[in-house]
Parts: sequence; C-alpha cells; structure tokens
Amino acid sequence: MQKLAIQGGTPLRGEVRISGAKNAALPIMCAGLLTSDELHLDNMPDLHDVATMRKLLVQMGVAAAVEQGAVTLCGAKVDKLEAPYDMVKTMRAAVLVLGPLVARFGEARVSLPGGCAIGSRPVDLHIKGLQAMGAEIHIEHGYIHAQAKRLKGARIFFDIVSVTGTENLMMAAALADGVTVLENAAREPEVVDLANCLRSMGAKISGDGTDAITVTGVEKLHGASHRIMPDRIESGTFLVAAAATGGSITLTDTRADILDTVLEKLTEAGAKIHAEGDRIHLEMNGRPRPVNLRTAPYPAFPTDMQAQFMALNAVAQGSAMVVETIFENRFMHVQELRRLGAQIDIEGNTCMVRGVGHLEGAAVMATDLRASACLVIAGLVAQGETVIDRIYHLDRGYEHIEAKLSQLGANIRRIK
Ligand code: UD1
Repeated sequence: MQKLAIQGGTPLRGEVRISGAKNAALPIMCAGLLTSDELHLDNMPDLHDVATMRKLLVQMGVAAAVEQGAVTLCGAKVDKLEAPYDMVKTMRAAVLVLGPLVARFGEARVSLPGGCAIGSRPVDLHIKGLQAMGAEIHIEHGYIHAQAKRLKGARIFFDIVSVTGTENLMMAAALADGVTVLENAAREPEVVDLANCLRSMGAKISGDGTDAITVTGVEKLHGASHRIMPDRIESGTFLVAAAATGGSITLTDTRADILDTVLEKLTEAGAKIHAEGDRIHLEMNGRPRPVNLRTAPYPAFPTDMQAQFMALNAVAQGSAMVVETIFENRFMHVQELRRLGAQIDIEGNTCMVRGVGHLEGAAVMATDLRASACLVIAGLVAQGETVIDRIYHLDRGYEHIEAKLSQLGANIRRIK
C-alpha cells in the first residue's frame, strides 16, 4: 500500500493550478447517458474516482475517448443498464447513473451503496423522488431495480438537502414528461455546473443555485461541449495548508465567488487574502487564530473542508469549537491528529480543539478523502517526519497532490 512521507516545517510558497472539480465531473459524466450524441468535457481532473466512473460508463456501453484533461463520451450504444456492487461500494457517486438510465432507457439496476466510513449515507431520497415521478422501484438482492415507461414531472420535496439526490433527480426530470419542481434542493455550485451542462444539451432548467429548481422535460437531449468548473475543495485545501504553514501562495484557474465562507474563516484565522479574476492569493504571518465552525449545506461552511480546518485549529493560538451537522461520523481524523500531539475533545457532533504550539511528526492512517487532506496539512506543519498510510483515499479526490505540494516547496514524497 502506498504512503506519503512528509518532513514538516516548510511554509508553502509559490503558485499552483487548481484542477477541475471532482464533484462536478462525476455527475456531469453521468449526463452523457442522457443522449446518443457526443458529450465533450474538458478541464477533467485526473483522479481515481473519475477513472472509476469512466470504467462504469464503459461497462454500460458508453464510448469514452480520453485525451489529456478531457474526455468525449458517446452513449449511442448503451446496452447494460446496471451499476454493480463492486463499483458502487468504492464510489458512492456511481448512484448518479440511476436517474439518467431510468429517464432514457426506462430501466436501471443500481447497487445500494451501503455504509461508508463517514456515516450511513442512505439514498432513500433518490428513490422516493423517482417513485414520485412514476418509477416502479423494487429493492432486490441489494440492488435498486427501477422501471418506468416514461417518467412524469412531479413536485418533489427533499426533507434533507442532498447534493447527489438533487443531481440525480434533475437529470431524470430533464427527459421526463412535464414539469418537475425540486424543493429544498441543494444549492451547491456543482449542481449549477451540472445544470449548465444539461442546458447546453438542450434541457430546460431554471432556479439552479436556489432551493427550488424547475425542470421542464424534453423528448431528447443532444450533444454538447462543457468545461468542468474549478474544484473549490481542492482550492480550500491548498489555502488552509498555506495558512497553517505560515506561507504565501497563489491559486490559479480557480473561483473566489464559490469559496465565500472558507475565505471568510481563513481571514478570521489571520490570513490576508486577495482575489482577482481566476486567482486567489493568500499570505499568512505567525500562528493562526482559532476559528469556530459549523458545517451545513451550501452556501454555509462545507463539510468537505471541516477536517482541513481542524488541522489549522490544532495549531491555533486558543480554542475553537467545530460542529459537524451533515455526516454523523466525520471525526475520524481526530484520533490521528492526537497522535501528532493535537488536543481535541469530541462530544457527539462537536469537537473542542485547543491549539498547541507545535505538532510532532508520527505515523498516521488516512480514513477517508478529506481526513487524508487534514493529515497532509498536519504533516506539513509538524516537526519531523509524518508518514501517512492508506493514501489511496487521497488519490480519489486530489490530482497529483504530492507534485503540487512539492512545487510549493513542501518536502513530501510517495513511498510505493
Ligand atoms: C455530496 C458530495 C460530498 C459531500 C456531500 C455533502 C458528491 C459526489 N459528493 O455527497 O463530497 O461531502 O455532498 O456536501 O457530490 N441523505 C439521506 N438520504 C438520501 C441522501 C442523503 O438521508 O437519500 C443524507 C446523508 O446521509 C447526509 C446528508 O443527507 O447526512 C447529505 O448528503 P448528500 O448531500 O446526499 O451527500 P452526497 O450527495 O452523497
């Protein structure tokens, strides 16, 4: 199993290009199932999850032509309407094929995802939504089996805000008969990016970016070309890493307008931030100030940045309270941070972090994608060597992370 070895203590300095967003690329690739024409996507990140999604689509009969940073998908010959367990268990986002398959082919068999490290994460809202649109759904042998002659527009209320739930139903509604209104929909920028791509394929969608999305179904969608938006979580992760190490970095090819709460919290921690065009510059002097956080759906503070800020708070001058409201088991990085000397108490969904003067390098284990990013940041700050095991989690969502960090002056290497 591959590991990362980091010699901490060097402030990050320099410029780094931000990749296309994983959480936009995955649903948008599934939109390729909605048409028999070609869907050309660029600014595609080179990530394990993207490769897994491509493999799944190819298994279904989608043609995928890969170029550097781009892919052209063609769903003209889709003949296998199934997402098997071995794919869905490694990547929950595979459930995003459900809506498009039922909408275009009238049938889908998609494995239930089961639990994952950060919580139980059911897909009941995806299922209920499709049922409201007239799909017959049976759960058999661990699979969701959905059938519908043609989905019908419906008014669907989400009792919990779900990002992939919103995306799945928005794609299903694009080819349904009539008008669908998604209420209490996710407002995440990745939902808007998917809506932009669907619109360029001929879909009639309005209200994306608000909590009420209206989709007027059309008979057919056509091919299109779309550029994947920048990854706001990768952007946030590099900014926190620079702030924690007292560095000075510039991100390029990114967007500040979708990072409001993260930039606000970094400013509160003492960083000086300047954003202009597609660039964000951050400079930090001295130890961070502690920042209280509470995760919630966009535009509030993202759960996908909680772990990274925990590493920042771990070395802050004072105490901070971190509340996780989205996933019930998303503090696994805390045990590992404690191995580096962090002082953190957990009570239910709340952590009290008491900042310490320094962390000390140690062997730690990555448990999920964002927890891994937290350990990388802690390793960059810690004195001595930190070795992070199970970094396959990191490769699922961060493109060439050690190359990008090395470019910023970090002393980091992969042990194969
Ligand atoms: C997406 C992101 C993930 C991010 C999360 C929250 C992708 C590919 N992944 O995951 O990185 O951490 O949003 O911002 O975009 N829930 C239900 N029933 C459902 C669906 C969700 O109870 O049918 C619950 C979940 O257990 C969780 C909450 O709703 O507590 C939010 O989950 P959701 O927004 O669906 O997360 P994902 O879309 O899986």
